[in-house]
Amino acid sequence: MAEKLPQEIESASWAGEMGEKWNNYVEEFEGMIAPVGSAAISHAGFVPGEKVIDIGCGGGATTFEIAPLVIDEEGNGQVTGLDLSQTLVNTANQRLTDSSLSNVNFLCADAAKGSLDTTYDVLFSRFGVMFFEDPYAAFQNMRIFLKDGGRISFVCWGPPSEQPWVGQLMAIATKYVDLPAPVPNAPGPFAFGDKDYLRDILEKAHFNNIEITRWTGNQQLGGPGATPESAARFVMDALFLGDALADQSDAVKEQAYNDAVELLQGFVVDGNVELQGCAWLVRATC
Ligand SMILES: C[S@@+](CC[C@H](N)C(=O)[O-])C[C@H]1O[C@@H](n2cnc3c(N)ncnc32)[C@H](O)[C@@H]1O
Repeated sequence: MAEKLPQEIESASWAGEMGEKWNNYVEEFEGMIAPVGSAAISHAGFVPGEKVIDIGCGGGATTFEIAPLVIDEEGNGQVTGLDLSQTLVNTANQRLTDSSLSNVNFLCADAAKGSLDTTYDVLFSRFGVMFFEDPYAAFQNMRIFLKDGGRISFVCWGPPSEQPWVGQLMAIATKYVDLPAPVPNAPGPFAFGDKDYLRDILEKAHFNNIEITRWTGNQQLGGPGATPESAARFVMDALFLGDALADQSDAVKEQAYNDAVELLQGFVVDGNVELQGCAWLVRATC
């Protein structure tokens, strides 16, 4: 039996294999989480002139979206994307070179440790803050990135029980392998599914006015326009179904892929594979 569930992912793996995987499918991942990302950006209420840090920025999609929202007429207002994966920071920098934006930069660093050269008005993140080995220490550390009076505004996934497709895909994996029971609050996409745990982390890091708001909506698995076949290939190559079956034979993997295609055919709406998601939009002040 595997030692842990494939969804239980710590920051360290992002510096290596996970960062490569996200990078290989960066357009698909970003396309899939674009709707919840838009909700998170509008929830953050950016104001021209603000200095923002985008934690766990990946390939920088949200960093680039924030940039025009914070630049003012004098050219003040900037956004820094910070990520642990050098591969993803390289992708973000390449995209920056190809853009005309003048108020963006990227840093490769671990948000859980150390300080930065400057302080920020807003710490934003789309799904980049759930992988810390010690989230209590990490949020205490990130608080020092903020100016007095600054704010934190991020989005993280709600509990897996409220993302029905996750259980359905995992049921395919468990046809072929035994998987251990989930460890509550383990680092990974669903680390903060329990709102009380999340609130406790923020309170212990001395954040005030904590608001945790539920977001529900559809996301397009494998990005807009993916077919059941391409979405199934995506979950095998880049999401947890492939990880769960990593040690299995090619025949088992092929069978699981076929199972996933069959499952996903039931979710096709208007030419997309639409899956329901639940996330927490989180805001707090220093
Ligand atoms: C699920 S991806 C989200 C990427 C990006 N925010 C987006 O929405 O497109 C999580 C990101 O968090 C980054 N990450 C994980 N742990 C981190 C840490 N301790 N410090 C900085 N970045 C981290 C990963 O490298 C990865 O790019």
